[in-house]
Amino acid sequence: MKRLGVNIDHIATLRNARGELHPDPFLAAKFVKNQGADSITIHLREDRRHIKDLDAKNICSIKNLLVNLEISIKEEIVKNALKIKPNYICIVPENRKEITTEGGLNLKKNKNRIKKILNIFKKKKIRTSLFINPSSKDVLLAKELGTDCIEIHTGRFANLVKSKKNINNEFLRIKKSCKLAHDYGIEVHAGHGLDYKATKILTKIKEIEEFNIGHFIIGESIFFGIKSVIKKFKKIIK
Ligand code: PXP
Repeated sequence: MKRLGVNIDHIATLRNARGELHPDPFLAAKFVKNQGADSITIHLREDRRHIKDLDAKNICSIKNLLVNLEISIKEEIVKNALKIKPNYICIVPENRKEITTEGGLNLKKNKNRIKKILNIFKKKKIRTSLFINPSSKDVLLAKELGTDCIEIHTGRFANLVKSKKNINNEFLRIKKSCKLAHDYGIEVHAGHGLDYKATKILTKIKEIEEFNIGHFIIGESIFFGIKSVIKKFKKIIK
């Protein structure tokens, strides 16, 4: 059974547009869970453009809610994440000027730092994940670093689906990476840019156990409500 993680960063983006309290990501986290999300994802960015430290702390205090906190490798963020005490962490690359996470981690360049961070969270019994590009080399590096999970960056695949271009090569690249990771005993997740169509295609890859989806869910909810959007995604990934 594949799981759905709902990224609620853009509820905070909307709240911050007014600099006031509505819509409240804390209430959204509870609500989304009640609508069937298997976990909540939030990204505590270095520039705090959406989720703030207090949001993360409050959301992680909700009982029976599994929270996946996305973090960069920066010391300040790692320290805060340890205080926030999420159930899961996912290390992602971060670049100040980007609109969203543009690609997977550069594992080779940041090997020592990433290994150190993974060990810190593993000692605290927090599930660890690395956001990587669909590449066999990166899967091998991820294994060497000792992560519990990987999340495959599906942005390129999702863009090919949206623009109705040939998806075969990218699909096979993703499939190969997922299989390799699974063979190494790493749990496989996928996320970024996913809509109904791209998600449906990726459900053919049996190794993917979790999808983390944000922007499309929040955007589509304007028209159909978050309850029915989550329901539809759950049906697709079932
Ligand atoms: N997974 C990871 C690791 C991400 O960084 C993001 C974007 O914050 C997502 C999933 C969700 O991407 P989207 O908002 O495009 O669905």
